[in-house]
Amino acid sequence: MDKTYREQFVCQSDALTYETQYAPMSAWELLWQVEKMYLTQIVENLRQSSAKIDYLDFACGTGRIITFLEDKVDTATGIEISPEMMALAKQKLRRGTLLCKDITAPSAEVEGAYDLITTFRFILNAEPSLRVTAFKALAVRLKDESSLLVFNNHGNPWSYKGLLWPYHQVCQAIFGDRREGNYMTNQQVRALLDEAGMEVVQVIGMGFISPKIMQLLPYALCEKIERLLAGKPVIQAFGVNQLFVARLKRSKSF
Ligand SMILES: C[S@@+](CC[C@H](N)C(=O)[O-])C[C@H]1O[C@@H](n2cnc3c(N)ncnc32)[C@H](O)[C@@H]1O
Repeated sequence: MDKTYREQFVCQSDALTYETQYAPMSAWELLWQVEKMYLTQIVENLRQSSAKIDYLDFACGTGRIITFLEDKVDTATGIEISPEMMALAKQKLRRGTLLCKDITAPSAEVEGAYDLITTFRFILNAEPSLRVTAFKALAVRLKDESSLLVFNNHGNPWSYKGLLWPYHQVCQAIFGDRREGNYMTNQQVRALLDEAGMEVVQVIGMGFISPKIMQLLPYALCEKIERLLAGKPVIQAFGVNQLFVARLKRSKSF
């Protein structure tokens, strides 16, 4: 049986390796610059309707998202299953609270209700059954119909990543389930949200320059291009990273 994504980061070495992916001027860090720009906008917009923002970062890992947002909200909670990842997050957090728990466990109690929930680099990596269970668990934590779930899918096949699809198919046939060969269309994301009683409010596509091409261009130019193209009508559909803003469906039926 395949290992569940819940166990992917149990070792300290895996947690430390994850941190190195966001080294300055790396491809992941470039995407993060653009994601931060949109996260700031989303929180500012939410502020217009919510005087108080209770925030949850689910699968917070080493704290990338929660440490960026904790000062922009009123309360910040991070939930993470791996104590090793959480230990690294703890070193960076100033105000937020961290909980080491699995909200997808049948016995997990609902610890709070939130105006804003983020979950980054989780949904694509999680196996299909975990995706559904996690999204249902997040839906019950959204405070009301104006509360938002913000997450990303970094496996859009309608992007430069899709060019590697034949290669990934061969690798999967030979080596079995390999996460880097993971793809998820926007349609699949919408279906998942629907199953969990949620709907899409906004999709922002980004990530047009592959890590290989990035090595050939100056970082400043890549950043300029990414900032320019992100979220642009039509073009955004071809970004490898699709940022979703979702909310509870008007008539909740699950
Ligand atoms: C790739 S990391 C992303 C971390 C962070 N969200 C970020 O974007 O930098 C995914 C995280 O999901 C956590 N995870 C997996 N299953 C989980 C579960 N059921 N509950 C909480 N965290 C979980 C893993 O331990 C890992 O730290």
